[in-house]
Amino acid sequence: MSKPTTTKRPASADGAEKVKSRAPANGKKQALRPPPKLARTTFTTSREMDFFSERELVTQTGHEIGEWPLVFLKETIDNAMDACEEAGIPPIIEIAADAAGITVRDNGPGLPGETLKAALDFTVRASNREAYISPCRGAQGNALKTILPMPRIIDADHGRLIVSAHGKRHVITCGACPISQRAVPHDDVTEVPKSKKRASGRNGKASFFSGTEMRIEWGPRDDDYGVVWPFDELNPQSGDFPERFRMMVEGFAIFNPHAAIRLDWFGESREWKATNPAWEKWRPDKPTSPHWYEPRHLERLIGAYIVHGRDHGTDRLVSEFLAEFDGLSGSRNRAKVLEDAGMLRAKLSELVAGGRLDSDRIGRLLSAMQRCTRPVKPQRLGFIGEDHLKARLLAMGVQPDSFTYKRRLPPKSKNRASSPDEKACFVPWVLESAFGWLGPAANDRRRIYSGANWSAAIKNPFRSFGTTGEGLEATLTEMRAGRNEPIVFVLHLAHPRVEYTDRGKSALIVEGGS
Ligand SMILES: Nc1ncnc2c1ncn2[C@@H]1O[C@H](COP(=O)(O)OP(=O)(O)OP(=O)(O)O)[C@@H](O)[C@H]1O
Ligand SMILES: [Mg+2]
Repeated sequence: MSKPTTTKRPASADGAEKVKSRAPANGKKQALRPPPKLARTTFTTSREMDFFSERELVTQTGHEIGEWPLVFLKETIDNAMDACEEAGIPPIIEIAADAAGITVRDNGPGLPGETLKAALDFTVRASNREAYISPCRGAQGNALKTILPMPRIIDADHGRLIVSAHGKRHVITCGACPISQRAVPHDDVTEVPKSKKRASGRNGKASFFSGTEMRIEWGPRDDDYGVVWPFDELNPQSGDFPERFRMMVEGFAIFNPHAAIRLDWFGESREWKATNPAWEKWRPDKPTSPHWYEPRHLERLIGAYIVHGRDHGTDRLVSEFLAEFDGLSGSRNRAKVLEDAGMLRAKLSELVAGGRLDSDRIGRLLSAMQRCTRPVKPQRLGFIGEDHLKARLLAMGVQPDSFTYKRRLPPKSKNRASSPDEKACFVPWVLESAFGWLGPAANDRRRIYSGANWSAAIKNPFRSFGTTGEGLEATLTEMRAGRNEPIVFVLHLAHPRVEYTDRGKSALIVEGGS
């Protein structure tokens, strides 16, 4: 008797096997069904879901969930300081951490209600910084969006964000519908009690609480050790979390001579007084320089203005647009740019051709803007300065004779252009460092404070320098300032075009390595 056989046929062109025949046990031949095939459907999923799971938010923030309180801290202080500076107010920042959450309060102009509303729309970005090239702390228009859903992911039952500004208190819970995959934000708005507004007033006069208060909140958990935060790693009674939290706040105090910062950590207070409330730096309300833009950046800004104009029924003159740039506030210079670029009396909407931005014309406009203005000198970005850094480091216990301060600027020749093209490329920067030894009695632990554009980083963002790929760690070890040395090291870069490798701003690219 012959053995039952299976005839294997070659797969057809579309990859599916044709019907096979096989001799069954009863000897009759039987046609086999083709193997099941999945006809995939293309689903469109709302991008809103990019903010509503732990995994997605880790990608968005660049940090694991255990570090989210630090993300909240950094982003809210960044926003608070940017907003105060923009309004010309020396920042006063109050931070409080307790078992149920973290509060950050500022004395700025107050988060506008429309900006909060736009932040709750997870399909769009809302930022007054993202489209401009400038040395701001905030640059992506993403942070509020990551902070809003954070509390619910940390604590699905009790997590909430409380935002108080302009006399209104918003209690926001932000979840997502698992079926429609869309954001479901709830914003309960009430009036801020008048007594609270007055209670924080300075000198019993101006209401301190003119600014913004942001509180991320969760349900504290009771266990054998008392009330703790939702994660073990955040248990304020253990681990290095309290130290990291304090160092982060201290980092802002180190980078910002004009800011007064108070920290209340579970009832224990620390204060960093402003060493110079009148300190000058490049502020977010200063005009940006044409020399900081490449054509793609200017296209982005013009595109943003055109869309904003369409939404508000306006269409700016190119001349009005130019007036916002450094060196172009005077009508003579503007007229020269417009003439050079062939755009006298043109409107921004005319820079759209065939439904796209007209790259050639925008490129010509940028060249004319750069030809008619001077590059910004690095000094204008501002120096944190030796005096302030010394005051902060000595207050930390650094031995006075060990203190060293260094400042590096781009080579002068780069600022003095030999050709219009070279001049066009000039982006100024200031790199400042301070170093000190804490002495033989100090804990054998190195303390590094690094950051860019007056913002403290959660992790060292200088992981690689220039083309050599060597980072801060390697450089410090080479300087015999290894992990277990009782030293304090501060490194700060001011740069209008700091580029981050990730949305969480946890690693930045330093161009050129000089
Ligand atoms: N404390 C505050 N006071 C006033 N305005 C604020 C405050 N916090 C946020 N804003 C406004 O909300 C906008 C959005 O903030 P968000 O942090 O999301 O973006 P960003 O700061 O522009 O960029 P990034 O995502 O890099 O932080 C800011 O551009 C600013 O206009
Ligand atoms: Mg921000």
